Amino acid sequence: MFSVVPPRNSLLVAALSLLLSRWSCSCLSVPDIPHIATYFGTKTRYEEVNPHLLRDAVSVNKSVLKPPPTERCSPVHLTAVIRHGSRYPTIKNIHRIQKLSELVRTGASRGSDGSDGWLQDIQNRWENWFTEDMDGQLVMKGREDLRQLALRLSSLFPSLLAEENLRRISLRSSSKHRCVSSVEAFQEGLWRRSDVEYLHQVDDELMRFFERCRGYVEGVEKNRTALQEVEKFKHGDEMEAVRRRMADRLGLPHHLLTVDLVEAAFFLCSYELSIKSVHSPWCFLFDQHDAKVLEYKADLKQYWMRSHGHVISGLSSCPLFHHVFRTLDKAGRPRRSTDAAPEPASILVGHAETLLPLLSLLGLYKDKTPPTANNYHAQHGRSFRTSLIVPYAANLLFVLYDCQRGPRLQLLINESPVRFPGLEEDAPLYRDVRATYRHLLDGCDFHRECEGRATGRGPNTELSLCGGPSD
Ligand SMILES: *[C@@H]1O[C@H](CO)[C@@H](O)[C@H](O)[C@H]1NC(C)=O
Ligand SMILES: *[C@@H]1O[C@H](CO)[C@@H](O)[C@H](O)[C@H]1NC(C)=O
Repeated sequence: MFSVVPPRNSLLVAALSLLLSRWSCSCLSVPDIPHIATYFGTKTRYEEVNPHLLRDAVSVNKSVLKPPPTERCSPVHLTAVIRHGSRYPTIKNIHRIQKLSELVRTGASRGSDGSDGWLQDIQNRWENWFTEDMDGQLVMKGREDLRQLALRLSSLFPSLLAEENLRRISLRSSSKHRCVSSVEAFQEGLWRRSDVEYLHQVDDELMRFFERCRGYVEGVEKNRTALQEVEKFKHGDEMEAVRRRMADRLGLPHHLLTVDLVEAAFFLCSYELSIKSVHSPWCFLFDQHDAKVLEYKADLKQYWMRSHGHVISGLSSCPLFHHVFRTLDKAGRPRRSTDAAPEPASILVGHAETLLPLLSLLGLYKDKTPPTANNYHAQHGRSFRTSLIVPYAANLLFVLYDCQRGPRLQLLINESPVRFPGLEEDAPLYRDVRATYRHLLDGCDFHRECEGRATGRGPNTELSLCGGPSD
C-alpha cells in the first residue's frame, strides 16, 4: 500500500505513526520497566509480583478471601509476617558497585554512536550516586511499600483494622533500622496519617531467630561446605557464559570482570528501579537468559542458606512458628460475652531471612528435586523462586475466620491464596491445620533443635536421591 503514497507523504506517514505510537503508549500509562525486572530475587519490587498495583497501588481484590461459600464466616484475626520494604544496598554491594563503575569508566571501550546508546549513557551520563552511609536503610519507596500494604489490608479486613481496634493490635519488629522504619510506615498506613504515636515493640528473639540458633550458625552460616552448590554454579558453564557475554558487551577483557561484578551490574539495574523507578542503562547488559541464570544463582543461595537445603534453617524459626500458632489459638478460642475481645491483628516485621525459614518449616515451595549446580536446565518450572516469594514487602498472612463449623484458617502469600501442604481447601478448618502441623506443635523446640546434638541435622536427606555426591 505504501507504493501508492508519494515519497514526500510517506515520510509524513512515518512521522505521524511514530507520534501516534508514542501517544498511544503513554495512554496505557505503563511505565518503562526493564525486561529483566521479574528476576531480581530478594531485590525484586513487590509490583513485579502484583503488577496491577502499578496502576492502582491501593486496589484490593476481595475475592482472594476464600472461606467456603456455603458457610457463614467472618474474619476474627489476622497475623501478618512482613518483610521490610525497598532498601538501599548494604556496604558490601556499595563497594562492588564502586569497583564496577570505576572499571567500566576506565576499562571499557567507548560506546560508538551506533546501537550501544546505553553504553554511552553509562560512560557519559551515569554517575555513581551510592554512598556508604546508605548501608541497607529503608528508602522512601520502601516506606510507601509498607504504608500502601497497610492501606490494602485495611480495605481487605475493614472490621479487624477499624480505627477503634488499632490500639489493640500487636506490632513487633526486628531491631534493624530498615524494619523499624517499615513498621512505622505500616502504622501510618493503618491510621491513614503521618503524625502517629508508634506502638511497636522490638523483638529480635522472634524476628531474628536465625542469628541466635547455634545449630544454624555453626551448621550452615559458618560451614564452608554448606553453600558448595552455590560456589560450583558460580564457576560453572552457565555463569561463565553470562560473564563472557557481559564483558563482550562492555568491550572489557574477560579476566577483569569477576562474577561479583557481573552481579553488581545486575543489582544496579534492580536498585535504580526499586529506589528511583528508573530504567537504568545497566539493564541493557543482560538479556532474559542471563537474568534467569543470575536469578538461579541467588535462589540456590537462599535455598541452601535459608530454606529446605538444611533442615535446621526451618527449625531455627520454631519460636516464630509457636508464636503465630499461640496467637491464633488465643484468637480462635470460644469466649463468653464477658471476655475481652480477641486481638484483632498481630503484625510481625522482619527480613527475607525471617520469612524463608518459616515458609520452609510450613513445608511450602518444596520441589521434588532440590536445585543444585548441575540441574539448572531441569529447574525452570521450580516453585522455589525468591523473586516471587520474598520480594520487598513480601508478606505471609494467616487469616482466622469464625465459621459455622468452627474456626477456619486461610494462608495468603503476597496477597494471593496459597494452600497448606496436604490440605485441599483454601480455608480449611483450623483444627485440620493444627493436625497437619501436630509434630511441630508438639515439638519444634528451639533449645533442643538449636543447642542439641551438633550432628544429625545435616543436609536434607532428599539430596541423596537426586544426583548429589555418590557416597
Ligand atoms: C482476584 O483474585 C481471584 C482469586 O485469587 C483471582 O482468581 C482473580 O483473577 C483476581 N482478579 C483480579 C481482577 O485480579
Ligand atoms: C556442613 O554442610 C554440609 C553440606 O550441606 C553438611 O554435609 C555438613 O553436615 C555440615 N556440617 C555441619 C557441622 O553441620
